[in-house]
Amino acid sequence: MHGGRRREWRGRLVNPPVERASTILFDSVADLKRNRPQLGTYRYALQGTATQWALAEALTDLEAGAAGTALYSSGLAAITAPLMTVLGPGDELLVPDNVYGPTRHFCDTFLKRYGVATRYYDPLIGKEIGGLVSERTRAILLESPGSLTMEVQDVPGVCAVARDRDLVTLLDNTWATPLLFPAISHGVDITILAATKYVGGHADVMLGSATATADHYDRLQHVSWDLGHSVSPDDAWLGSRGLRTMGVRLKQHEESALKIAEWLKGRLNPLLHDMLDENMVVVRGDRRTADIYATEFNRIFNHYYFRSVTEATAGEPQSVLDASLFLSEDDSWEQKYAPGTLKSKRLALYQAMTGFTRA
Ligand SMILES: Cc1ncc(COP(=O)(O)O)c(C=O)c1O
Repeated sequence: MHGGRRREWRGRLVNPPVERASTILFDSVADLKRNRPQLGTYRYALQGTATQWALAEALTDLEAGAAGTALYSSGLAAITAPLMTVLGPGDELLVPDNVYGPTRHFCDTFLKRYGVATRYYDPLIGKEIGGLVSERTRAILLESPGSLTMEVQDVPGVCAVARDRDLVTLLDNTWATPLLFPAISHGVDITILAATKYVGGHADVMLGSATATADHYDRLQHVSWDLGHSVSPDDAWLGSRGLRTMGVRLKQHEESALKIAEWLKGRLNPLLHDMLDENMVVVRGDRRTADIYATEFNRIFNHYYFRSVTEATAGEPQSVLDASLFLSEDDSWEQKYAPGTLKSKRLALYQAMTGFTRA
């Protein structure tokens, strides 16, 4: 992964160094005015220096068909700024029902106050999403695999419907990353990463990115600057540093997850994993073991959930259920799985597949 290593940014070094700045000096006012804020042009440090540009360019290079990448100080900011860019009062947004919790909170509070209505949909809806589109619908948010039940959406199918209806598509691609799922080439307009996770890779930086097509990048970047979003050069440098090894780390995650899954066979009841024995595998144990597993697993892996990411293919969404979500429930079980909710439907499916009932 060599993106972002422009000679003019790195000199004789392998990687661009950390360039800390706020004010940039110019020889004349005319000189300042010539420098339009954009990637590669010094203007004011809000618009970045070589350190941030290198990371943005490297992320853009991973997405064939992308025009550019805006950087943010967290993954959540990389979701909220693009939503504020494409939505306005009176609009409606479609959001998958398994979306990352704080994204849902943003939709239900800030966007609601801002006059945007949110409609939640079953993440496995695929092309049927057309049936939910109203006069007011302006954009569709996707998250695939989705938090935390890991459904893989039919991204190309949903995007094809969106294109037909002139809707903007935004994907939270944090779990798959552009290495496993280059989203723009599958029809997405704006693809988002909580770079805090696999890009950073070492739990020592908060970072987000939104990579967009030519139709959306300029506006996205300028609205983000209008909102005051910027990333420190030190954090951007950590992001670039992490990105160089993301490929090998993802391979190792997959290998390790499969080894753990094999080890858990016979110890955990039930265990669901999409890459064991071709299909999902159910392993028998008892409820107590499962509770210990869920607690221990989350502690050890610091919420990098037990999973292997698979690439979404058109028309073949796979459902991957995270055992810990179902097995670490407390006394509010009945409330959480109240009849008629999406969670209760998933639980019914899960019970039908596994024979699992609450101990
Ligand atoms: C899928 C997903 N999207 C977005 C975020 C938000 O990222 P951050 O913690 O950098 O704000 C997370 C964080 O856990 C996440 O898992």
